[in-house]
Amino acid sequence: MRKKMSEVSQKISEKLLTWYQKNGRDLPWRVKGGAHPNPYVILVSEFMLQQTTVKTVIPYFKRFMERFPTIEDLAMATQEEVYAMWQGLGYYARAKSLHATAQMIVKNYDGIFPKNREEVLKLKGIGGYTVASFLALAFNKPEAVIDGNVMRIISRLYHLTNPLDEIKETIKEKAEELTSREHPADYASAIMDLGAIVCTPKNPQCLVCPLQEYCQSKNLADVEQIPQRRKLNKQEKIGSVYLIENDKGEYLIRKRTEKGLLSGLYEFPWIDNGELYKDSENSHQQVVHIFTHFKLTLQIYKKKSNKPLSVDGFFVSKEEFKNYPFSTLMKKVIKKI
Ligand code: ADE
Repeated sequence: MRKKMSEVSQKISEKLLTWYQKNGRDLPWRVKGGAHPNPYVILVSEFMLQQTTVKTVIPYFKRFMERFPTIEDLAMATQEEVYAMWQGLGYYARAKSLHATAQMIVKNYDGIFPKNREEVLKLKGIGGYTVASFLALAFNKPEAVIDGNVMRIISRLYHLTNPLDEIKETIKEKAEELTSREHPADYASAIMDLGAIVCTPKNPQCLVCPLQEYCQSKNLADVEQIPQRRKLNKQEKIGSVYLIENDKGEYLIRKRTEKGLLSGLYEFPWIDNGELYKDSENSHQQVVHIFTHFKLTLQIYKKKSNKPLSVDGFFVSKEEFKNYPFSTLMKKVIKKI
């Protein structure tokens, strides 16, 4: 974390912080402008947020804090009392660990939270993610917080298209590089909020993103496929198919070559890796087809254009589709029009 930031990273970090001042969410466990004055608030909320969404956590958090307003109250409670306040949140191991952590802090540290990474890691139920978010949010320490939101933002920012487990190291390096040294608490909240509000898994709002000028995936057809969550096995392929419609409501088709898969048949332009056309819009529809040797999933993208875009394509109306032999795969696409 001590490495000096590059100029671009500095800009990205600043843009994010500025965006957060205006657009960051008001959450019951949050203060803007630095560390939370009460680390207990961060401890409870981070435990609750480990496997649960913000929306679900809010009412539980409020009730929990009313019932156990201080770490001493929590430490003194029985396990049944703690579980009762956790009912419905699930993953009760978290409640048990939080309770044990509260007792350790009261017993071993007189109720004063440790600020040191190694000490915090010795507490119960606190792993790599929680130690970073806790130290950043409670003590304004320049810790790189890496949750699902952060992984998504960074893999998109640098267009890292390989499966997630192959890019984790790069994500970590980039996350450390980007983390604000001056305002780490706000930065941690900011990047989580950007992931929740703008750089969402589906339908990201690239046009309002404060990082758009730096983002290598901005408006790309495959942005929703980043990060690639799982390794595809050899028998699985994913790709994109493009419904390109002209002003007359006709669609671009082309004839496949006489050799290879589906030879000589007609199709809407598609590829099984990467993207064919920029600035197309994800329809959020897919078709799946099982070939003899592999399963293919095509994401359908739409684009308005009057140009054929490639030499071998031409526009035909929906009524004329029947005059062209389409593969079963493409017939599935036609059904989605
Ligand atoms: N997810 C985990 N910690 C969070 C926090 N402090 N704010 C919003 N989302 C979170």
